[in-house]
Amino acid sequence: MEISEFRHFGRLNDPDSCAVIKGVCSDEMEFHLVFQNDVIKDIRFYTDGCGHTGICGETAARLVAGKHIDKAMAISPAMVRKEIAYLTEDHIHCSILATMTLLKAIADYLYRKSIS
Ligand code: FES
Repeated sequence: MEISEFRHFGRLNDPDSCAVIKGVCSDEMEFHLVFQNDVIKDIRFYTDGCGHTGICGETAARLVAGKHIDKAMAISPAMVRKEIAYLTEDHIHCSILATMTLLKAIADYLYRKSIS
């Protein structure tokens, strides 16, 4: 998968929630989410990391786009890895970074909702 094939690469100007995490390799991942009635209506990720990180971010985004938050919260590194057959052992941490950041963005949404 090339970066030009990423449908969810980039940032949103006015997301309902977002998160940034620096991975163990020092690469950063961001997720930006827009919700409607607890359904993910728009999603973008951004990373300065390697190609594997980008593919993991795009895969995680595709797995949760259009999903209710209850289903989206079930995202895991194993689900992402299952979709990317060629993700080698030395890049498993990329799938963990992508899913951790996505889950942190979901948590940010839940927190903001609870205090609004
Ligand atoms: Fe840093 Fe992929 S090598 S997250």
